[in-house]
Amino acid sequence: MVDSYGRALDYLRLSITDRCNLRCLYCMPKDGVEWKSHDAILSFEEILTSCRILANRGIRKIKITGGEFLVRKDAVNLIRKIKAVPGIEELSVTTNGLLLEPCLEELAAVPLSGINISLNTLSAQTFRRISGYDKPGYPAAVLQSIEHARSLGIPVKINCVPLKNININELVDIAALAEKTVDAVRFIELMPIGCAAKMESMQAEDIRAILEQHYGKLQRVKKNIGNGPAVYYSAAGFSGTIGMINAMTEGFCETCNRLRLTPEGLLKPCLSSDMTLDLRSLLRSGASDEYISKCIEEIIARKPAGHSFSGIYGNVKKNHTDKDMFRIGG
Ligand code: 5AD
Ligand code: SF4
Repeated sequence: MVDSYGRALDYLRLSITDRCNLRCLYCMPKDGVEWKSHDAILSFEEILTSCRILANRGIRKIKITGGEFLVRKDAVNLIRKIKAVPGIEELSVTTNGLLLEPCLEELAAVPLSGINISLNTLSAQTFRRISGYDKPGYPAAVLQSIEHARSLGIPVKINCVPLKNININELVDIAALAEKTVDAVRFIELMPIGCAAKMESMQAEDIRAILEQHYGKLQRVKKNIGNGPAVYYSAAGFSGTIGMINAMTEGFCETCNRLRLTPEGLLKPCLSSDMTLDLRSLLRSGASDEYISKCIEEIIARKPAGHSFSGIYGNVKKNHTDKDMFRIGG
């Protein structure tokens, strides 16, 4: 699949649930979320059919996201089946890590090519402030799962969203996890989607300055790691790398290789676009694979050059308060 800007699309971000065990303040609205009914979200069969059709069109790598993907019943079973879809070469997941421990051995056996863990703080108190989680065990449980995953041979990356006045004083400590504990720590510029639109974004340049003050000059790593948009750096004495996802200030859309599928079966050519293809309705109307495939081709032809979060792609800058990150899979 090649879009009208010549970008080959081989990567699908697949959100299998809009539900989550946390309520991160930049992701889930404080006053509650209206969950999609069971019938409104794709069944396992429908997800697998979608993956099959997309794999026939060239999707080779899938990232399972949510919400929190492990909240969906039987998620690991589903993942095993997705990995078995002909053409799918790599499968990875994004998770907040809290429900990971009991599933790790099964996930390792899938096998997974990686686990991304969202970790914005190492302090139980700050974690409660960010996510509303008030049970004991944080961060020890997540750190233990990270070690366990690595001992099972699964590469682990940390995703951290720097939030002004909340976790900035911890960025150096979180980056330190790349010294020997994880394969990479990535810092993501907050994007104005859903409730994050009301928050102030911390710029990658400022994040890097904080890290360099402590670790010295970060050296740009030439090779791209993984399928994502991060720019990677190495720090002296670190076995892992430090990544920056400069969504707002530099962008990454020129090399975008991805499509998104929401839990309710909307195929999105871009994180910021309002245009979607309703795969659920198509599948439930009994449309043939060929017809669905043709519709996918049409929506790909309309994939925009870039997002409209900050105006860097020449499209009108827009706050995406009408969208929910927990539905489009981060
Ligand atoms: N901007 C940037 N990153 C976000 N994430 C969720 N919402 C936003 C946002 N508005 C992060 C999550 C997760 C990753 C998939 O995306 O914290 O780590
Ligand atoms: Fe859940 Fe991730 Fe959203 Fe936090 S950011 S509420 S962990 S989906």
